[in-house]
Amino acid sequence: MKRILTGLQPTGIITLGNYIGAIKQMVKYQDMYESYLFIADLHSITIPQDPNELSKNIKSLLALYLACGIDPKKNKIFIQSENLYHANISWLLECNTYYGELSRMTQFKDKSRKNANFTSGLLTYPVLMASDILIYDVDYVPVGIDQKQHVELARDIAIRFNKKFGETFKIPEPLISTEGTKIMDLVDPTKKMSKSSDNPKGVIRILDEPEVIRKKIMSATTDSDTIIKFDPINKPGISNLINIYASLSNKKIDEVEKLFVNKKYGELKKEVADLVITELTKIQSRYYELIKSKELDQILDDGIKFTSEIAKKKYELMKNKMGLHR
Ligand code: AMP
Ligand code: TRP
Repeated sequence: MKRILTGLQPTGIITLGNYIGAIKQMVKYQDMYESYLFIADLHSITIPQDPNELSKNIKSLLALYLACGIDPKKNKIFIQSENLYHANISWLLECNTYYGELSRMTQFKDKSRKNANFTSGLLTYPVLMASDILIYDVDYVPVGIDQKQHVELARDIAIRFNKKFGETFKIPEPLISTEGTKIMDLVDPTKKMSKSSDNPKGVIRILDEPEVIRKKIMSATTDSDTIIKFDPINKPGISNLINIYASLSNKKIDEVEKLFVNKKYGELKKEVADLVITELTKIQSRYYELIKSKELDQILDDGIKFTSEIAKKKYELMKNKMGLHR
């Protein structure tokens, strides 16, 4: 079975967009691949975090993923900062990565432009990500398109290291899903629904209360027309609602169009709200049970034990090849 690994940053409460676009894919992947899933807390501190918020977010994110259908029996789940080898291996890799490569990363350029007072962690972040990936000799790395460049860097670093010190790492490939639908903001349906949006009305969070969800969907921006048709260019708001309906009901777009032919916008909104509320309240009730249970700690303890052993072996192998031994 091919192996995959992905990391999730514990920042902010995930949205309906994350759920439909990423989590549902991962739930599917867990039956197709040997899966590793970790909370990338070391990555999140490249940007300042409130310590209390961060520690809450770490467990909360894990509970949310499990509530959404990630099965701890089918995934190796762990917290990055608990596996001491990730940062150590990252250092060994950093000394085989060029400053020029890192300063050219699009995400670094964007983020460092926004805040001139950035930390050096923001620059070296992709090397830590390469470490996460290369430790486990994975075949594929499921990521959003914004992370593709980082996976490509991990490949370059691995190829270079193998050439210099002998076969050490498997060369990974990014796995960019073309299936996951992009969910748009409810207020401005020309932009992606995003965790970091400044208008909360456009974004449905997984833990939003049912009445809040209904209100946001009922007041979603549409158009002055009356026809329910999938046309993202001319009817982005209606198309977004059709998309949400199709994803959550596992129907095709044209089936949804047929279902709502001759119906009013208000009826579509009501049906979408019902569907989202049904799906999210199921997730929420599992979440609130998990977050107070001991199960999470048990899962994390098992995960760290398993992955630390693999990472230790990789670290020893690298050290030996590099001459870091007695
Ligand atoms: P982010 O929240 O940007 O860190 O993204 C985490 C994952 O969720 C990535 O795989 C994204 O592609 C996916 N994702 C985020 N927002 C959306 C959205 N509005 N629609 C679909 N997928 C999304
Ligand atoms: N950098 C990724 C993000 O911001 C998270 C991440 C860290 C990751 N390490 C990884 C993703 C390894 C895939 C593989 O979303």
